[in-house]
This record gives sequence, structure tokens and C-alpha cells, in this order.
Amino acid sequence: MLLLDIPSIQSIILSIGLEPFYSRLIQQLEDDFKHWQNFYKSPRHAIHYKHGVIELMPCSDDELYSFKYVNGHPENTKQGNLCVMAIGMLADVKTGYPLMISEMTLLTAIRTAAVAALGAKYLARTDSNVLCIIGSGAQSEFQAMAMKSIFPIDEIRIYDIDAKAMDKFYNNLTPEFNRIKKCESIAEAILNSDIIITATACKKKACLFKASEITDGTHIHAMGGDCPGKTELDASLLKKSKLVVEFTEQSLIEGEIQQLDISHIHGELWQIINKLIPGRENNNEITIFDSVGFAIEDFSILKLVYTLAQELKLGVDIDLIPDIDDPKNLYGLINNPLKRKPR
Ligand SMILES: NC(=O)c1ccc[n+]([C@@H]2O[C@H](COP(=O)([O-])OP(=O)(O)OC[C@H]3O[C@@H](n4cnc5c(N)ncnc54)[C@H](O)[C@@H]3O)[C@@H](O)[C@H]2O)c1
Repeated sequence: MLLLDIPSIQSIILSIGLEPFYSRLIQQLEDDFKHWQNFYKSPRHAIHYKHGVIELMPCSDDELYSFKYVNGHPENTKQGNLCVMAIGMLADVKTGYPLMISEMTLLTAIRTAAVAALGAKYLARTDSNVLCIIGSGAQSEFQAMAMKSIFPIDEIRIYDIDAKAMDKFYNNLTPEFNRIKKCESIAEAILNSDIIITATACKKKACLFKASEITDGTHIHAMGGDCPGKTELDASLLKKSKLVVEFTEQSLIEGEIQQLDISHIHGELWQIINKLIPGRENNNEITIFDSVGFAIEDFSILKLVYTLAQELKLGVDIDLIPDIDDPKNLYGLINNPLKRKPR
């Protein structure tokens, strides 16, 4: 079985480049969203604790099955730990054999950003060139780079309550963008922005800005509110916007929409991609992609890195599933210890 650890994922991305990787991933996501109805889907299984959440996110088509283990612990960064970490698995449906285990902390950040870009492709104005990101933590640079692969981004405005997080964003992405502005307030950051990404981590019902502060034509990608009791936007803004979700059943529990009810949802992104309902219809409407992260997105990136790892001969073969001549003689393994494969 294949193991894709962090060095393997780094090698895959360095081999083809982050921007081409985003392009392939956005294409893969779009293809999988087009075949949305062929997937076996369910809301994720979440256990909520005082300080965070641990979730399992399974899904499958008729060939491949995937699941991801992922957490969300907003207080972790205060102790120098990551807020979000993940591990994923891909398996063959016909036999049930696991094919691959992969690191997914990096892959989650990348796929989350690619989903943001895919949503914005259908919901933001095509001439969007000013991007605002509120919350410049672990996910933020990935979001900016994915948006850059779709839109001619000239200027990025960032705001974070932690000045060091803004410095880190600025230092990481200065070579990639003409202008990055570290703002003094959310109000300054959102002013005249075409696309606003909300990527804060706080386990409460927050209200980052008022509905009246958002100008017509703005697209908001709301990704930080992704659990019961954890939201970022004002309910009155949701009411006056065109609100799109990934998987309604899960979004009603976890998204910004938990503040209202199903009647305020315009539809699911796959329906827009398949032209069953309209995306953005004019330059004046305010659109919101209330994105909480859905299992098909993990499926898409796991499938892509599995293919790339085979093509590029990357990853490590590990003995995690018994490979024995007589499948009924599992007991035989006890007395015949396998030699470790050299790494
Ligand atoms: N929708 C998805 O698919 C998805 C995927 C991954 C992460 N997330 C969520 O995205 C959020 C960000 O994740 P991360 O890994 O970047 O977390 P992080 O802890 O690394 O960064 C969050 C940043 O938000 C800042 N912040 C908190 N409150 C703020 C406020 N009121 N105004 C401005 N900045 C504020 C913090 O200082 C921090 O720098 C989390 O809530 C996480 O659960 C969602």
C-alpha cells in the first residue's frame, strides 16, 4: 500500500508547481461536482468537545472510497500547535483493499482553497481583482494562491487580530502579488474589495462586518464558520445575498446558514456547475459561498495525488495490509515476521 507522507506531497507539488497543481485540482473538483449524483454521500461524523471538533468525512463512487480524519481546535495555535490537521485514505471499492494513506493537513488547505476558487469562478464577478482575506492563519496563503489561478488579482488586503500572522502572510506572498496591504481594521480591509474570504478561527457566533458595509457585486467566501455555534457573518447579510452551499444537509448543521433555515439557500454549487440553477446573474448581487468543507473535495484531491504519485513514482510502499499466499492462513503471519522494506 502506498504512503504519501509530507515529503512525498512536497515532491509532487514541487515536481509540477503549485499553480499547475491548482489548475489540475480545480478541473478534478469540477469533474467530480459534475458527477455529484453518482457519489454516496452523508454529512460528516463530528464529535464536539469544549475546545474543538474531531470529524470523519467519508464518501465514495462506484470505484473508489475515501475518508478523512480531521480536527478543528481554534485555541491550538496559542500553544504553538496547528488549528487543523488531517490524514486521509483511498480504497478500491471492488475489493475493499486500501490503496493509499496520505497526509492531509497540506492537502486540506490546498483543496479548501481550490474549492474557494471553483465557487468564485461561478459566483464572483469575472473582473474581480481586489481580494480581501480576514484571518491570515494557516489556510490564508493557499486561498490567495488558488484565487490567483482564476482571477487577475492585483491587490490583496489582509486583516488579522494577530499582527504576526499578517507579517507572515506578507513575507510568504510578497513575491507572488503586486500589492499586499496589511490593514488596521476589518472595515479598511473589506472596503472596495471584489472578493472577501473570511478565514478566522473562533468557536463563537462572530459578526466580522455589518451587512451595510458590503458593497453591491461583492462575492464572499465564508469558510471559517464550519461547526455548530461557529459562524462569521451577520444573518441580515445572508438574507440579502445569494447564498450557495456544498451539501445542504451538512451545511444546515455547520454553515453560516445554521442561523436561518433552508428557505434562504439558493442552491448547491454542483447544481450551478451543471447549469441546473443560475450562478451570478448580474454585477450588483452579493453572493456568498457558505463553504464548510465536504467529503467529495477530499475524494477529488486524494484521487489526484494517487494518480500523480503513480506517474511520478513518488511515495513509500508500506506493509499495512497482509500480503499472503493463502488468505485463510492469516495466523501464519504470527510466526513468519515480515522483513521491513527499505525506505
Ligand atoms: N470550510 C473548510 O473547508 C475549512 C477547511 C479548513 C479550515 N477551515 C476553518 O478555517 C478557519 C481558519 O483555519 P486556519 O487553519 O487558518 O486557522 P488558524 O488558527 O491558523 O488561523 C486563524 C486566524 O484567524 C485570526 N482571527 C481570529 N479571530 C479573528 C477576527 N475576529 N478578526 C481577524 N482575525 C481573526 C487568528 O488570529 C488566526 O491568525 C478555521 O475556523 C477552520 O476551522 C475551514
